[in-house]
Formats: sequence, C-alpha cells, structure tokens
Amino acid sequence: MDSERHELIAAVEGDIERLMADHIEKRPTWYAHDLINWEDGRSFVDEPWDESQCTISPEVREALVLNLLTEDNLPYYHFSIASQFPKDSAIGRWTRRWTAEENQHAIVIRDYLMISRNCDPVALEDDRMATISKGWDSPWTDPVDIFVYTSAQELATRVSHRNTGMKADDERAYEIMKRVAADENYHYIFYKGIVTAMMQHDPSACVQSMLKVYKNFDMPGTVVPKFRRRATYAARAEIYDLRIHAEKIIAPVLREWKIDKLEGLTPEADKDREALLAMPGELVERAEKLERRAVSKLGV
Ligand SMILES: [Fe+2]
Ligand SMILES: [Fe+2]
Repeated sequence: MDSERHELIAAVEGDIERLMADHIEKRPTWYAHDLINWEDGRSFVDEPWDESQCTISPEVREALVLNLLTEDNLPYYHFSIASQFPKDSAIGRWTRRWTAEENQHAIVIRDYLMISRNCDPVALEDDRMATISKGWDSPWTDPVDIFVYTSAQELATRVSHRNTGMKADDERAYEIMKRVAADENYHYIFYKGIVTAMMQHDPSACVQSMLKVYKNFDMPGTVVPKFRRRATYAARAEIYDLRIHAEKIIAPVLREWKIDKLEGLTPEADKDREALLAMPGELVERAEKLERRAVSKLGV
C-alpha cells in the first residue's frame, strides 16, 4: 500500500470502528435452521433426485445456484480484503466478522435447495468443487478501490438475492432470500460508509477510483461454471441484467455520494467525475440495444 493510501485508511480508522459498532448493534442475529422446512427432507439414497421434483422455474433455479456458488467462493473474498490490511486493524476485525456473516448465506441457500430438491445435488457439488478449486483473484488491491468495489458489489448482491426470492414464487425461498438480502444491505451500509468517510479527506482519489472500478466492474461469480448461461437465465427472469446494474446499483451509489455536488476536485478528478456521471445513462443505452436485439431475435 503506498503511503498516501495508508494515511487515508488511518484517517478513517475511527469511522470504521463506528460503522462496525453500528452494524453489530443493528444487524439482527438470525439462524439458518429456523428458515428451513426440515420436515420436507427425504433421503437422496432411497429417493434419488429427479428434475420433476423441482417446484420453481428453471431460470430461478439457475439464479439460485449461481448466487450460492458465488457465496461459496468466500475464502477468496476474505483473502482479497484480509491480505491488504493489518490483522489487528479495525478493518481486519471487521473482515473476520463479515466473513462469518457471509458464510451463513451459503449455508441457508444450500439447505433450502437440498430440502426442497430444487437443484441437482450432484451437479451442485461438482460445480462447488470446480468453483473453489479455480479460485478468484480480485483485481482490486488498493484500499480505496477495495471499498469502492465492495460498496457496489454488496448492493448488487442485495438486489440479486432479493429479486431471486421474489421471482421464485415460493414462500420459503422468498423469506430466505429476503433475509440474506437484508444482510447484504447491512454490508453495503458499512462499506459505503467507509467511502463516504474517505471522501471527506480525499474526494479526488475516491472519484478517480470509482470511475476505474465501475468501468471494469465484474461480479465475482464469473468464475462459476457456465456463468454466461446462468447469467442469461438470471437476466431472462429479470433478476439481474445490465439495466438493473445501471439503475439499481451504479446510479444509486453515485447519488448516495452526491458525486455531482463535490467541490475542490483536482482537474483530473473533475474530468473523471463527468465520465462517472455519464455512466448510468451509457449503461442504460447499452441495455436498450441488447433488449432491442433480443426482441428482434424473437421476431416480435
Ligand atoms: Fe452474501
Ligand atoms: Fe455481503
């Protein structure tokens, strides 16, 4: 970490402590086992899985599996943050707590899928092995980039989990994904709070980081087998697509940080701010182009 960035993180250490205390006070404790209909469970040995047992649509099942495998890859997300900060710093302590919370998301989604038989258990385990064996390297190692990325990423997972639960047309799935999405929202509040605090000290560094990170934004699930196919299913089910990314993630974070009203930026950062503010509109334009292409392919 270069020394300027080091100073910036040191300057917001107190904010990180405050955000963590707020998080611990506000996030309700919940238990995955309370959300599962255990009485629906049957032996896979006596009664092997068959697709006819599924109760939710193939698109939503694919989205649930994509969300779960993305959550399963947690060791690499932990590493990408923990390896960049001292173990005994506020962010070091936060990262361990956050990891424990994130781990529960995979537990509850997997329990649901197994009990409800809404996925092939063999394919799921094979894909989990493939995903974690492949790993994931975060492109972001600079502390400002890390929190600019995690803010948008947590908001994106909130939207994706919530939409998956809503589109499932299944009360259990709805309740589970609502609970997980609420956790992601608490994480979003924490990370965006760090960026807000850093902006008080160096708005130019933050704006320049936002442009760089959001221009190259990828969900960490891209390493999941058949990612493209699964993401297409999620888009078709209106769970997550480019328009949602523009309107529900990028535009809200820019509004949150009042990018259009920032003052005292360096000339370079001011130029980047213009490009950043244009980004949601450009993404929507790209989304519209894709939507028109999809409609013409269907011959509608
Ligand atoms: Fe999560
Ligand atoms: Fe999260």
